[in-house]
Amino acid sequence: MSFPEVDTPALLLDLDQVERNVDRYQRAASAAGLQLRPHAKAHKTVQLGRLQIERGAIGVCCAKLAEAEALAAQGLEASFLITTPVVDAGKIRRLVELAKRARIMLVVDGEENVAELGRTGVTLDVLVEVDVGQGRTGVVPGAAARLAAMVSKQKSLRFRGLQGYQGRLQGVASLEERTALVREAMAKLAESERAVKEAGLPVEIKSGGGSGSFPIDLELKMLTELQPGSYVTMDTNYAKVDLGGDHSLGNPLTVLTSVVSRPVPDRAVVDAGWKSASSDSGVPSLLNGDGHGFEFAGDEHGIVRRNGAPVAIAPGDRLQLIPSHCDTTVNLYDSFVIHRSGKVTGTWPIVGRGKAQ
Ligand SMILES: Cc1ncc(COP(=O)(O)O)c(C=O)c1O
Repeated sequence: MSFPEVDTPALLLDLDQVERNVDRYQRAASAAGLQLRPHAKAHKTVQLGRLQIERGAIGVCCAKLAEAEALAAQGLEASFLITTPVVDAGKIRRLVELAKRARIMLVVDGEENVAELGRTGVTLDVLVEVDVGQGRTGVVPGAAARLAAMVSKQKSLRFRGLQGYQGRLQGVASLEERTALVREAMAKLAESERAVKEAGLPVEIKSGGGSGSFPIDLELKMLTELQPGSYVTMDTNYAKVDLGGDHSLGNPLTVLTSVVSRPVPDRAVVDAGWKSASSDSGVPSLLNGDGHGFEFAGDEHGIVRRNGAPVAIAPGDRLQLIPSHCDTTVNLYDSFVIHRSGKVTGTWPIVGRGKAQ
């Protein structure tokens, strides 16, 4: 039985493979003269943020204020970039408190928000977020200069540069197709940069990119700092993305699940369902599945079949599932069970779990 000491379902993380993934992207970024500011939304864990920084990252990104609060409160010493605008009076009060204890930079995309942040009187580093094609947050490229000028007029705000992230292209499997899409997105950022510079403001930082655009961002050198998140843990969705020969990554993240029943020869039931592995990007795959396949069978259960043939597993057996989407699966667990080549070395709390506020 694999991992006999671990109660299931559990989220396993192979630290040897994590280190290989972290080093692979860090070395490539450093060799290209670019900085890495990995996105902590994928792992939400102090120890993993620390590992990334010890190996060369300049800081981390957080998707939400609460994620940064949790990581800072639990001891991650880092420069934090909050990559979603922080809007509303309650959140801004919390931001001001956090900025007293941690180095914070954040993005803005609205004039009212800039005015409100300026009124706090607390010194904050600010990036203007540009919508480079995702159609989510961010000003249109033509409006970046005006907002940058407004930021620079607030005494307590320091305009540092731009953020441009295009999430929808990250999972495009073909490297060639993805390259064309990244070029398009970065042209929008370049247009914004030109306009901001023409308005007399220096653009010191250009932050963006993900695990899928990474090899292309290295070549283009449009961004100064890269924000990949999933590259640490990976998932089956990302495994389909062609990252180019030198950048391929392993899969350290699995869900350990136990067979609890085999009511008929061709169907085994395991103790992992929708509460144990996310389904937004499809079903997880079985590690070393040997012809077996996993299906969701409700909140608490999954079913394993073998194309109609009798399954080669029995109650008490353990299986490992590779999640289809790492971020949303990690967010289901309180901690990672850390192992090196199958030997458990401890647990790391996922302190940012559920911290979406
Ligand atoms: C702003 C931002 N940057 C970076 C990332 C990291 O992307 P990935 O997990 O694809 O590496 C994300 C992910 O959603 C993001 O929202």
